[in-house]
Amino acid sequence: MEKKKIAVLVILSILFVAVVGVLYFSEKRTVYTTRNVISVTTLPLPVLNGNVSVEQAIENRRSIRQFSNDSITLDNLSQVLWSAQGITDSEKGLRAAPSAGQVYPLEIYVFVGINGVSGFQEGVYHYVPVNNSLEKVMNGDLRGELSGIANNQPWVKQAPVDILITGNYHKMINKYTDKELSTRFVNLEAGHAGENIYLQSEALGLVTVSLGSMNEEQLIQSFKLPENENPIYIFPVGHPT
Ligand SMILES: Cc1cc2nc3c(=O)[nH]c(=O)nc-3n(C[C@H](O)[C@H](O)[C@H](O)COP(=O)(O)O)c2cc1C
Repeated sequence: MEKKKIAVLVILSILFVAVVGVLYFSEKRTVYTTRNVISVTTLPLPVLNGNVSVEQAIENRRSIRQFSNDSITLDNLSQVLWSAQGITDSEKGLRAAPSAGQVYPLEIYVFVGINGVSGFQEGVYHYVPVNNSLEKVMNGDLRGELSGIANNQPWVKQAPVDILITGNYHKMINKYTDKELSTRFVNLEAGHAGENIYLQSEALGLVTVSLGSMNEEQLIQSFKLPENENPIYIFPVGHPT
């Protein structure tokens, strides 16, 4: 009788662990195939001259982690996004940052805080280089959630906007087959786009900092990143104090 009870208990425990395991992993592996586009905004065109030389921007660029409460303008946001991934040769579809094999595996998202961009609603937006537009993919000011995912780095919720760069390693693997090489190529490209964000911010009198520290899986799930997109870099952007 005693043995029978133990056997039942063991079976029940195994069943419990199996059910919890299935629930845990199915939760973790939710795969989103498309972005849920709520609305689309066409961005102002980029301005192709400025008052700060490339040399001055390189010399003065610093990682700054303190931001004033001032909003940035939609012109400024558009300019920074263009510097990261904007189309610079529309005939050939080439972009501001170089891309191995012209694969363009990067995607850019913007987390806009309440009053983060003057005259523009808070939310999470996806940048569409070819249309120079922003697709709203989530409602609400989600900088706090992003800050938590970025290991509680406080500047993520203090900056009026946060730019997120993701990379689709599969796109690159389709071209180069080798997984390690393709991963390296995508990450290198994110570095190019990131440096452009730094330099363009500097030229506009804005400040930023590149953040590589984050919980990738949590970010994918919380912000429903489409299949095969991996977060790489976060850039809080705003005015200096
Ligand atoms: C790949 C990479 C990841 C980084 N991640 C973080 C980060 O998670 N948090 C942070 O505060 N700074 C981060 N930084 C910024 C560095 O701390 C910063 O570049 C460094 O202190 C040098 O300062 P400078 O950028 O002003 O020249 C990162 C920089 C790079 C290149």
